[in-house]
Amino acid sequence: MLILKGVEVYRNEKRILKNINLSFEEGKFYTITGPSGAGKTTLGCVIKGFIHPSTGEIIYPRGNVKNLQERMGFLLQFPERMFFCDTVYDEIAYGIRNFSLPHERERIEEVTSLLSIPPELMKLPPYKLSCGEKRLVALASVLSFEPDWLILDEPFSALDWENIKKLKDVLYILKEKKTVILITHDLSPVLDLTDELVLMKEGSVILTGAPETIPWKIVEESGVELPIVPYFILHLERHGIRIPRSVKRISELTEAIKERLERRRNEGKV
Ligand SMILES: Nc1ncnc2c1ncn2[C@@H]1O[C@H](COP(=O)(O)OP(=O)(O)OP(=O)(O)O)[C@@H](O)[C@H]1O
Ligand SMILES: [Mg+2]
Repeated sequence: MLILKGVEVYRNEKRILKNINLSFEEGKFYTITGPSGAGKTTLGCVIKGFIHPSTGEIIYPRGNVKNLQERMGFLLQFPERMFFCDTVYDEIAYGIRNFSLPHERERIEEVTSLLSIPPELMKLPPYKLSCGEKRLVALASVLSFEPDWLILDEPFSALDWENIKKLKDVLYILKEKKTVILITHDLSPVLDLTDELVLMKEGSVILTGAPETIPWKIVEESGVELPIVPYFILHLERHGIRIPRSVKRISELTEAIKERLERRRNEGKV
């Protein structure tokens, strides 16, 4: 368990993280969301150790701070800022070499095939890639050293629908093996992956919980766009139509609405 106790961060006398108290259990999938400027990236940087809190403390599992922080993979919000090698291959290999891990070529083949990165990209300088390709290469370089903890900052931005679906499939695989902290303002792709949602606003955590317990009204009011299923659940509730909170997928929502209509028809109301 990684615990943040009363963590605060100041920048230019402005408090950009306010009294953050959170715990992250190993093996779970966390999604941190909130509007722009809420402090999501800053919180990710604090967990990784890029930023030291002005006050408060972070308690790392088994007390092994340095080891855990080093072995945390961090996908930056702007992946082009991560690149400094001459080729995509070297970029992906960097973590493997840094940790002196064996079987470089096999590891790279495994991770590039997982992310469907075409072999013809490997010799290119990273700056020549498209935004979506850059993001996948940055993720490959994070995954290649097989970190146990992953912090992914806005991994879906700049990806088209095909790549979002591909990344979602990869996240399902990673969820089985790793602790994932995913930062996103777009909840749609991660709703059914998420064990625990953390909602931030203006530097504070305003709620946490499993998606099926989340009061979506508060999420909507915070300025985060609701994924389609919670959006419909919330708006149907406003019209007196209650849908079970366990419903997560469109197919389940359609079933629930169908059942509801059939019940009403049987009661002679439709
Ligand atoms: N080095 C800095 N100096 C001053 N202010 C900063 C600094 N870094 C971040 N901030 C401010 O802290 C706040 C939180 O920034 P942060 O990047 O963590 O937000 P975010 O939730 O990740 O936003 P986005 O969704 O746009 O990525 C913002 O108001 C930002 O302007
Ligand atoms: Mg950010």
